[in-house]
Amino acid sequence: MADLQLTDDVPSEADDGIWLFCIDCGETFAPFDDIRYTCDDCDGLLEVRYADLPTFEDFDGEGSGVWRYHAALPFDVGVTLPEGNTPLHEVPRIEEAAGVENLRVKHEGMNPTGSFKDRGMTVGVRVAQEVGVDRLACASTGNTSAALAAYGARAGLETLVLLPAGKVAAGKIAQAALHQARILEVDGNFDQCLDRVQDLAARGEAYLLNSLNPFRLEGQKTIGLEIMEEHYEDYGEYPDRIILPVGNAGNTAALYKCFRELVKSGAITEAQVPKLTGAQAAGAAPMVEAIREGLDETNRWENVETRATAIRIGNPVNAPKALPGIRETGGTAVAVSDEEITEAQRALAGEGVGVEPASAASVAGLHKLREEGVVEDDESVVCLTTGHLLKDPDAAAEAGAAPEPVPNDTDDILAHIDGGASSVGGAIRRGASKAAKSLALVAGGLGAAYLYRKLRSEE
Ligand code: F0G
Repeated sequence: MADLQLTDDVPSEADDGIWLFCIDCGETFAPFDDIRYTCDDCDGLLEVRYADLPTFEDFDGEGSGVWRYHAALPFDVGVTLPEGNTPLHEVPRIEEAAGVENLRVKHEGMNPTGSFKDRGMTVGVRVAQEVGVDRLACASTGNTSAALAAYGARAGLETLVLLPAGKVAAGKIAQAALHQARILEVDGNFDQCLDRVQDLAARGEAYLLNSLNPFRLEGQKTIGLEIMEEHYEDYGEYPDRIILPVGNAGNTAALYKCFRELVKSGAITEAQVPKLTGAQAAGAAPMVEAIREGLDETNRWENVETRATAIRIGNPVNAPKALPGIRETGGTAVAVSDEEITEAQRALAGEGVGVEPASAASVAGLHKLREEGVVEDDESVVCLTTGHLLKDPDAAAEAGAAPEPVPNDTDDILAHIDGGASSVGGAIRRGASKAAKSLALVAGGLGAAYLYRKLRSEE
């Protein structure tokens, strides 16, 4: 079992109060004297540990976004674009449909390259500079590669990205390409790409910046810090639950670390820790299986499939950190179908929040857990949306309204709008029976405005 207990012991290897700790065997290492991603002795996952942990009052000083939290990070500033400071949207129609006390959506797609990965890279690429490497690498379902390409470019470092051929959304490849990463398309899935890039890193050919790298998770911790601060400011209390899409389980591990550190510093009590709740696509759900069956590790799923390609992952490497996080906080994990994901993506779009499919798994998961009675009606919930709509333009176009060709003539256009197949009134009338079916998919009580948007998107 992983040892995730934070203690007061500071080992002799600590450098400026920072060290690496193996969660399997307890071995400790200096943070920057050598390049390592896992434990030298047992290959267990490493965690960054600090002698001093901040409370919220310590975050008032210098820096913005991720770096406003430098007191909780290994450096005062990183390679920054800048990142963090993402919106915590109100989504009143989805909130009503889900029937919970409060629902907010933390939209991580609003980071510089359009996903939460930027929070990890601003720290990770800074560490790469510290340990002195000249080539960065990652395996990716797309977003990590886009972020690494941008931060690598910013730092002036060569970047390799290994992608599963044919399974990465167009926007992400375009980003990696324009930021001048070398894009290596592997004939295999993401998990196999990660095997390959770990080999390259072990041979000293590149610095690994997947979430196996413990420093990445330090940056991603700040999602939790932002949510906790803003929720408290708005409601005078912390959220009861955070629901997030899960692939490699890095974010789940990062949020759990955030909460453990806040408890240890005395900033919050155990009872105030939100229930960490993971959502996976049904075709790639080893974490859900492990939670359901009480396993300490996930089984590797060899054949994974979902249109939410960002989370098309069968071997979540951070599971040993994330499974205890879900269990210890009283959370759970839920699988959602691709149809439920698309439905949630449309509902979010209907609130003006544009996300890629994987992101919508959190909202789809909320609906499912409400139907199952796991999430209670008096809960304050935050759903994390992890990537921007434009990451996957093909999925967005498929889920959205079809363009309507019209003549280049104002009167014809007006006639089309008023009488044509897509007129608003017509859409509402014709869509009524379709809507009745769709309504059964959500947990009841959709408002008229939301209905209108749904109908538009289904035309
Ligand atoms: N959502 C999006 C949009 C992602 O890109 C990812 C992971 C996740 C959720 C899952 O996060 O791995 O921390 O559980 N994408 C990685 C990539 C694997 O390569 O971009 P996790």
